[in-house]
Amino acid sequence: MSEKNTRTTRLLAADAEGLAAASEMLRENRLVAFPTETVYGLGADATNARAVAEIYRAKGRPSFNPLIAHVADIAMARREGIFDVRAEKLAEAFWPGPLTLVLPQATGASVCDLARAGLRSVGLRVPDHPVALALLAAAGRPIAAPSANLSGHVSPTAPAHVLADLGGRIDAVIDGGPCGIGVESTIVALLDGKAALLRPGGLSRAALEAVLGGAFAVAFDEGERPLSPGLLASHYAPRGSLRLEAENLREGEAGLDFGGRFAGAAGNVLDLSPREVLAEAAAHLFTFLRALDESGAMHIAVAPIPCVDLGEAINDRLRRAAAPRG
Ligand code: TXA
Ligand code: MG
Repeated sequence: MSEKNTRTTRLLAADAEGLAAASEMLRENRLVAFPTETVYGLGADATNARAVAEIYRAKGRPSFNPLIAHVADIAMARREGIFDVRAEKLAEAFWPGPLTLVLPQATGASVCDLARAGLRSVGLRVPDHPVALALLAAAGRPIAAPSANLSGHVSPTAPAHVLADLGGRIDAVIDGGPCGIGVESTIVALLDGKAALLRPGGLSRAALEAVLGGAFAVAFDEGERPLSPGLLASHYAPRGSLRLEAENLREGEAGLDFGGRFAGAAGNVLDLSPREVLAEAAAHLFTFLRALDESGAMHIAVAPIPCVDLGEAINDRLRRAAAPRG
């Protein structure tokens, strides 16, 4: 397993040459931090689960939060999310800008399951920064980007912050100087006919409510979670029950394997990574859980997965998926 932090992190100028190098790296599934008007984002191809898995690895993120898919314009956003009238209004009023819209995933969307943490919704944003917009246009596809800091650290608003946290762990940082806004985008969910403010940020509640023509139904708390849990399911769980740390398959069970433990057993088995590569397992996790769900599996045995590096996030999500539901 080569999951060590031994990369050379290039500092790229925000000129034509730097942008060409950065978009080439994104095409090769590498990690490129880039400036936005809010904070620096750690970008990877949002359509490629292996590339997205690298984001979690580099940040040392202990669980898979859904990531914001950054797009160049509303046309690209409409291919990923379903815009109702309010979403259209907000995008029209505030994009490009510090607003993330969480919308139902569109049919034929390209953002991968891991970037959405297995949810049916997708977070979309058109950032208001010339360097970010040029990079997104060159990429021609959504770029997943959480804030470019180590998990648990504050968001970076200058290239030096990114390098201090992620130097040696990512491939490049585009130097766009300090960020203008310096706090993350405001996140609004438009799902199931409800509008919810999920995270306060660079765009004010008042500005949003003026365009929506009314107050948000759901408040947020300091921890950035909706006050009304369950309104927005934040974790994907299959219908069937999960048996974790399974050494073998029992009668009637489907298998979510790791490292070929269930190889040769009869039944419906998907192996997250026959070679025991955690980044590969992370990339497959939500897609395979969903596939087992769609196959009608009611009992799923999950092979043991080491709880190191990305394995911590994988095990966290599996435990949540296995937990009893209300
Ligand atoms: O300003 C920003 O938003 C910056 C820049 C880089 O764009 N990005 C950022 O990303 O702050 P991050 O990963 O640090 O925070 C994204 C938040 C997470 O709390 C995540 O739970 C939420 O967005 N989010 C993304 N997609 C979601 C979805 N489908 N449903 C609910 N929440 C979602
Ligand atoms: Mg963050």
